[in-house]
Amino acid sequence: MIKKQDSSQQSLFDLFPSSDKLGGKKSLQPIDESKDSSEEVNAHNDTLGLNTLSSLEIADFEQVSALRKELHEHNFHYYVENKPVIEDSVFDDKMRKLQDLEHKYPHWRDANSPTQRVGSDINSEFSQVKHVYSMLSLGNTYSESEVRDFFNRVKTDLNDSFEICAELKYDGTSISLIYEDGKLIRAVTRGDGTRGDDVTDNVKTIRSIPLQLQGNGYPSFFEIRGEILMPWEVFDRLNSEREMREEALFANPRNAASGTLKQQSSKKVAERHLDAYLYYLLGENLPKQTHYENMQCAKEWGFKVSSNMKLCRTIEEVMEYIAYWDVARKDLPVATDGIVLKVNDLRQQKNLGYTAKSPRWAIAYKFKAERALTRLNNVVYQVGRTGAVTPVAELDPVQLSGTVVRRASLHNADVISQLDLQIGDMVYVEKGGEIIPKITEVDKSARILVGQPIQFIKNCPACGTPLIRDEGEAASYCPNQGGCPPQLRGRVEHFISRRAMNIDGLGPETVDSFFDAHLINDVSDLYWLTSEQILSLSHRKEKSASNIINGIQASKNVPFERVLFALGIRYVGETVAKLLAHTFGSMSKLQQASLDDLIHVDGVGERIASSVINYLKDPQNQLIISRLTEAGLQFSLGSDELEGRTNKLEGTSFVISGVFNLHSRDDYKKMITTHGGKCVGSISKKTTYILAGDNMGPAKLEKATKLGINIIDEKQFLSMIL
Ligand code: IVH
Repeated sequence: MIKKQDSSQQSLFDLFPSSDKLGGKKSLQPIDESKDSSEEVNAHNDTLGLNTLSSLEIADFEQVSALRKELHEHNFHYYVENKPVIEDSVFDDKMRKLQDLEHKYPHWRDANSPTQRVGSDINSEFSQVKHVYSMLSLGNTYSESEVRDFFNRVKTDLNDSFEICAELKYDGTSISLIYEDGKLIRAVTRGDGTRGDDVTDNVKTIRSIPLQLQGNGYPSFFEIRGEILMPWEVFDRLNSEREMREEALFANPRNAASGTLKQQSSKKVAERHLDAYLYYLLGENLPKQTHYENMQCAKEWGFKVSSNMKLCRTIEEVMEYIAYWDVARKDLPVATDGIVLKVNDLRQQKNLGYTAKSPRWAIAYKFKAERALTRLNNVVYQVGRTGAVTPVAELDPVQLSGTVVRRASLHNADVISQLDLQIGDMVYVEKGGEIIPKITEVDKSARILVGQPIQFIKNCPACGTPLIRDEGEAASYCPNQGGCPPQLRGRVEHFISRRAMNIDGLGPETVDSFFDAHLINDVSDLYWLTSEQILSLSHRKEKSASNIINGIQASKNVPFERVLFALGIRYVGETVAKLLAHTFGSMSKLQQASLDDLIHVDGVGERIASSVINYLKDPQNQLIISRLTEAGLQFSLGSDELEGRTNKLEGTSFVISGVFNLHSRDDYKKMITTHGGKCVGSISKKTTYILAGDNMGPAKLEKATKLGINIIDEKQFLSMIL
């Protein structure tokens, strides 16, 4: 459980750290009443405007302090321990309250406040900074016998008993974090090992990295290193979104994590949900004499430290650890690519010392990437719904990591020429990022005849139209959007899919049969289908025909933003569709928008803007839109969305009491119902909130307190419906 905050123990020190950035050693001292007259304190308070605070401001000030401390703690429970202790909505409420207060009092800003985790749009060119301690890499091996050699060398060199700390080698991007007086003051990438990029703002958005340490006992200045990772789940989601927008996919979570960390906008970094494990503590006054114990201390201070570290005394224990994790790592939420072995005792580490490149007291054992050798029989080309042409390798079936692999994606023409592929070649397949099989190498020694390199096709395999390839793009496209069968079918399949129009009863196979029977040619034809037509198709039962018709009818209520997404405009994924729907409000307004209007929408770049313009100016698409409009689809925001109706307060009941300054009592009533809440006249156990203005009746106050009902003020309420 979280310790309850005792606000009487809060000091201004908690609120205003030495936030004057790097290396600034002049930490503020806790302010003590008895020293109130001291010049230093007064001068300091002056800069913060604290000498002239009203009692309301002092109350706000204390609240800011309490909220920051509380939110730091909840971040730790949620992102480090994976054990949240409060509801997400309560966390969000507290965060909003803090944001409001920081907005109201901008001069109380703190670079390490939990609100800073959302990032900003500021385009930061990274500055290069020198590492306090050089970031060396580790000696690498793929061979178990070299692990034994390492163990024996350590044994001989130390000539004493020793322990090896075995731990997972996380496969992300390494980071150095500097803490001063318990606050994160700098985060730097590895760079060339001597200097790296200052990515502090981006790193602050990673919730599992503490901005403010907990407890005590940490050195006043220290460095901790670790790995920034993109969890598999986030990686898969990100790649499927990118696939839909036809953007280049990240090959693995490591590339995705490092690419994300180098994003110029920390707001974008925040959206990517990176994680971090810390594995190496450096500094002058470390609390313990062993690596393992120091890492346990780091855990206490709030860092995410792996719970899978193990102390080994014998080489057999080391080998067991390796064998166990080679298999078990597949169930971890993040990528690992090996095991790191470290001599545990810091004095022994010092005795063993370093070579020019790496420590003699540690080694990395890398897991062998699972790969298999097989024959490339053919390359076929698939046309996606937006016309992108993807080459796919057809292989002799081969076992790889528990599945039989028959096909591998070759991505685009560049990949084929880089591999220098020929039909009949023996090729190595690996599970790239351990999910999509890919060809990594050609075994050229196995080539019997000198063959011809594979030439990427020049015409669409489905309709014969010459392909185009935009400058700077790796992908080739078939431009025949209106006549190329896989594009036509693909667009209908996308249109009916769950996240788009979600038409019950219809699936890709039924769509194919509609095309084959010439019942449809584009998405608008769906709305003119009759049950008789559907029944005329073989094996259709009456029930399934009426299911399809009902599903199509029901889709007429799907909101505008999803209709826009369903149209399948290139680069318009769910997020962009939502953005466009809410910016322009209706299809007719969107149709009137110029390229410039579109580019000026935050989140829409030139590529998206011209794709939207091209789509909308195409007469065939215009016809589809007008037929869909005629069918009754939603081509403007609904009245709920326009009136600002939401379900943010669904399931809550409010009692309003007292007089208000910002809005009238009636306005508050309306706001509560607009957002799905209920207003009731008297307090009961079922009341969720009391919205309290000035002079709330004492009887009500007593009853509310007794029942433990949350009492909120105007601003807190407004932040709930933001
Ligand atoms: S210790 C001087 N421990 O592997 C030793 N590194 O070349 C410092 N890595 O750059 C590194 N997991 O990015 C250490 N548990 C772990 C690790 C780890 C991943 C990375 C790190 C380093 C590379 C080794």
